[in-house]
Amino acid sequence: MTGCGSGGAGGAAEGKARFDDIYDSPDPRAYFLRLAPLEYEIPQHAQPVFRQAAAERAALDDGRPGAPVVLDVCCSYGINAALLNHDVTLTDLYQRYTSRAAQAMSTAELIAWDRKFYAERRRPDAVPVYGLDVAAPAAQYALEVGLLDAAFTDNLEQHPPGPRLSRALADLGLITLTGGGSYITERTFAALLDGARRPVWVSAFVLRTVSYAPVVRALAERGLHTTVDPSRTYPQRRFTDDREQRYAITAVRALGGDPTGREDTGRFHCVRYDSRPGGRN
Ligand SMILES: C[S@@+](CC[C@H](N)C(=O)[O-])C[C@H]1O[C@@H](n2cnc3c(N)ncnc32)[C@H](O)[C@@H]1O
Repeated sequence: MTGCGSGGAGGAAEGKARFDDIYDSPDPRAYFLRLAPLEYEIPQHAQPVFRQAAAERAALDDGRPGAPVVLDVCCSYGINAALLNHDVTLTDLYQRYTSRAAQAMSTAELIAWDRKFYAERRRPDAVPVYGLDVAAPAAQYALEVGLLDAAFTDNLEQHPPGPRLSRALADLGLITLTGGGSYITERTFAALLDGARRPVWVSAFVLRTVSYAPVVRALAERGLHTTVDPSRTYPQRRFTDDREQRYAITAVRALGGDPTGREDTGRFHCVRYDSRPGGRN
């Protein structure tokens, strides 16, 4: 598996650094320690966007009982759920998980510490969040500390949803995505949409090094219209080295993008895609 924002989809990210080891840990300390020097920041850019989308989706009366659920795809340790439903910033999380106090704890102690931390910072407008990630320990951690209401590890790139996820899709109202646009393809989105029973919106931050066009097409086939402002980009993280930067610049150009002022200044950049039924955005 390749690193944050890099990916496996169609070998699209072969020039990228790999961080396989930090995805499958029992807690997020290695993740934050490794990504801090690279200033991985895309979940912070997504926070206000996901909060607004979740609030608007929750306000939509779709005629079904119960609150629509947010499904964070490629949820990892529940970072987007933390930022969505709690009064915390990504900077707070970097400080917390790289702190001496955190480093000295066992995973069980960290989980207890985090449960209290997030409970104390829970926002009054918190919405239900499910997480989907093939990294079971990461998703399990997010569940145990209370960031997720349910966690799923189905790999929808390879298999249809299992019975538990299939049942859960009845609640789905909004899909969110950061850092995973190159791991998952239209297969995952199609499986989620095909199992949904309520109107589903999608809000996704995707690297400019990969094409989201197949996802846009799959969503359109299911009645969702996608909007994007390609002139508005969001930095994801610093490149690990010159070789990775050369890869990104080549990949962006191959997709018709211009790396000037963006990738050529040393960081991966994303664009934001919003998909909603019937062309409303
Ligand atoms: C770069 S991390 C992003 C984590 C988080 N969303 C963030 O922005 O901090 C990518 C995640 O995608 C997950 N992943 C890879 N392939 C997947 C798949 N087929 N389905 C679901 N998750 C997948 C990895 O396990 C990893 O946790």
